[in-house]
Amino acid sequence: MSETPRIVLLPGDGIGPEIVAAARRLLDTLGEFEFEERLMGGCSIDAHGVALTDEVLAACKSADAVLLGAVGGPKWDTTDPDAPRPEQGLLGLRKGMGLYANLRPVRPSPALIGASPLREERIAGTDLLVVRELTGGIYFGESGRDGDSAHDTCEYSVAEIERIARIGFESARRRAEGSWQPARVTSVDKANVLETSRLWREVVGRVASEYADVELEHLLVDNAAMQLVSRPAEFDVIVTENLFGDILSDESAMLTGSLGMLPSASLGEPGSPGLFEPVHGSAPDIAGEGVANPLATFLSAALMLRHGFDRPDEAERVEAAVDAVLESGLRTPDLAAAGDATVGTEEMTAAVLAYFSDDGDR
Ligand code: NAD
Ligand code: IPM
Ligand code: MN
Repeated sequence: MSETPRIVLLPGDGIGPEIVAAARRLLDTLGEFEFEERLMGGCSIDAHGVALTDEVLAACKSADAVLLGAVGGPKWDTTDPDAPRPEQGLLGLRKGMGLYANLRPVRPSPALIGASPLREERIAGTDLLVVRELTGGIYFGESGRDGDSAHDTCEYSVAEIERIARIGFESARRRAEGSWQPARVTSVDKANVLETSRLWREVVGRVASEYADVELEHLLVDNAAMQLVSRPAEFDVIVTENLFGDILSDESAMLTGSLGMLPSASLGEPGSPGLFEPVHGSAPDIAGEGVANPLATFLSAALMLRHGFDRPDEAERVEAAVDAVLESGLRTPDLAAAGDATVGTEEMTAAVLAYFSDDGDR
């Protein structure tokens, strides 16, 4: 990695530019970074006719890390199978950069326990990690229209399942270091119906034998969706395929009070650049209003510091700053309970930045 980390910023569409600009200010407060801003998503379709140009993909591959806002919006929504779609840019980036492991940590900030629609006693103690397979499955299988019908194919190879299973077990092992609780992996599939899921279960079980210190349970995805809201605190690492991971992570976001809180890291082979982005989308319903919650993007920047640049102490300071501003009572509208005063993106950002300038040695 270069001395000054080089970050490609992909603001994207909707609230993307608002939250990425806020994250850039945060990173500037933390240290020296070189930024290169590029178009990806709907904005790239408008400028170039495609959601991801070869040039932008090449820039991302040669950067030290990529920070993305979000892509998509009603302007580009169409059911025409031949029209370009913003989401193709994101999928092309994940595939093109080889980012097969998507980590989505779910750790409700203590001050937000009351902001979740779930009862406090259910979510107290929740601290889980969704490990989502990101470059295979139904997202990338052969698909198409054929007269009156359409199809999407789900395919997984042993090698694809093995490598994501290892990420799951390794993550569980690391999380358990220094803890009295045993490492636990919950593998989620639909093995009672799908052949890919039966292969998944078989391979994850085999990989588990290399990790005698990690407990493994298998859950069917429908049951997992239910258990996530009935006993969230009992999960540790959830490892699952692409589509199930997409759905379960949005569900998990509500344990933290809002989709606006959930960060993610997409990683490939060691040494290659990662992609860091909030789990949420471009929120077209609030775009341009200055009320988007920037915290999921700040926490994604923290994951970039931790996983992309091996700067765990700074990552923890960002996470502590987020906890502190929430503790002080600041709420963007997505986090507010009825009657709460709310702040916009700018005030929330300023409060997080102030945490660093108020007390440099914290
Ligand atoms: P969304 O995540 O954009 O929004 C869902 C709801 O959550 C909305 O009410 C929105 O206002 C709210 N929300 C999301 N992020 C927020 C934030 N930071 N602060 C406050 N409120 C927030 O999901 P959607 O509406 O289903 O999708 C909108 C577009 O985003 C679609 O085009 C979709 O394809 C795209 N999308 C992109 C990504 C990505 O770029 N990674 C992820 C998901 C969806
Ligand atoms: C996500 C998003 C994407 C996905 C879309 C926008 C392609 O929902 O990152 O969770 O389905 O992976
Ligand atoms: Mn999603």
